[in-house]
Amino acid sequence: MTVDSVDSLLNAVQACKDKALLFIGEGSNTVFVEDFDGIVIQNQLKGIQISEDDERYFLSVASGENWHDLVCLCMEKGIYGFENLALIPGTVGACPIQNIGAYGVEIEKFIHSVEFFDTHSEMMGYFNHKECEFAYRESRFKQSPGKRIITMVNFVLPKAHVLVTDYGPLAQLIQNGHVSPKDVFNKVIEVRQSKLPDPATLGNAGSFFKNPTLGIPEFLSLQSKFADIPHYNVPDNRVKVPAAWLIDQLGYKGKTIGDIGCHEHQALVLVNHASRSNGGKGEDLLALARQIKGAVENEFGIILENEVRLIGANGLVNL
Ligand code: EPU
Repeated sequence: MTVDSVDSLLNAVQACKDKALLFIGEGSNTVFVEDFDGIVIQNQLKGIQISEDDERYFLSVASGENWHDLVCLCMEKGIYGFENLALIPGTVGACPIQNIGAYGVEIEKFIHSVEFFDTHSEMMGYFNHKECEFAYRESRFKQSPGKRIITMVNFVLPKAHVLVTDYGPLAQLIQNGHVSPKDVFNKVIEVRQSKLPDPATLGNAGSFFKNPTLGIPEFLSLQSKFADIPHYNVPDNRVKVPAAWLIDQLGYKGKTIGDIGCHEHQALVLVNHASRSNGGKGEDLLALARQIKGAVENEFGIILENEVRLIGANGLVNL
């Protein structure tokens, strides 16, 4: 069923009290590995309000709006900040849940507050930025799945905007001279289209695993065995390593189980080669993901965590 207003959301929750409920946006980061034994409610809350003062733009965006459409609208209106996050699939409501990020920017940078419907108390609620407890691909919303349904995201984008162009292909832009937000937007789209398969033509949910972070002693011991391991420092004295590199080293690119495969160009993305004919089995996806996870643990001693939301008959499934 779909909901297009807060009232219809409340009605849906009350009507389905005896059933398991699952809320989705566009479902682009969710994979059903079995038929879910409950009711799926799809978010179609729409509406965008924009205001400004001398220094900032304020955007209040209903959670069912498409993320990339919002990025395009902002670019057209000369509201900058989202350009590094172009072409990320999914809805605006999904972006705070996993604190979407790409090419050096995480969305939390622009989130002022989030409004939600609390399914336990059946009241509307509000978290300011701090209360959202954002971290890398994490938030308070992700910690208690199903408890809070995001209805509105409030963004603040400073007019004095500084471009983020540290990430490899974006850094090349700077070498060519003056760079505008539109240049960054176009480059991000070009890089994503060249590396990441389009879910509309080859089923996938983006990065399947999170990039793991290690303590410094753990990282140094790994680096002594694998001298060329890519890495970058993150807060709290931790080092992040690309899961794609770990998986790639083990030769998984292009490998398949049934119709499910590890993508040829980006080892972190699992794809469904039969998505256009509604084929591909959940059990094959789980088998491949578990095989990769086990192989990475054996070789590198690192336990990967899935980034996509896996849903089985009774709700969330762990690898
Ligand atoms: N690499 C390989 N083999 C590959 C792909 C990459 O060895 O097949 C190595 C390279 O050394 C590369 C490094 O991994 O420098 C990082 O790869 P990339 O820059 O492609 O990014 P990623 O770490 O795989 C992350 C995000 C993406 C985001 C990109 C760009 C996560 C889990 N993934 O991927 O987000 O678009 O950076 O910023 O953080 C998503 O969350 O669904 C997603 C696609």
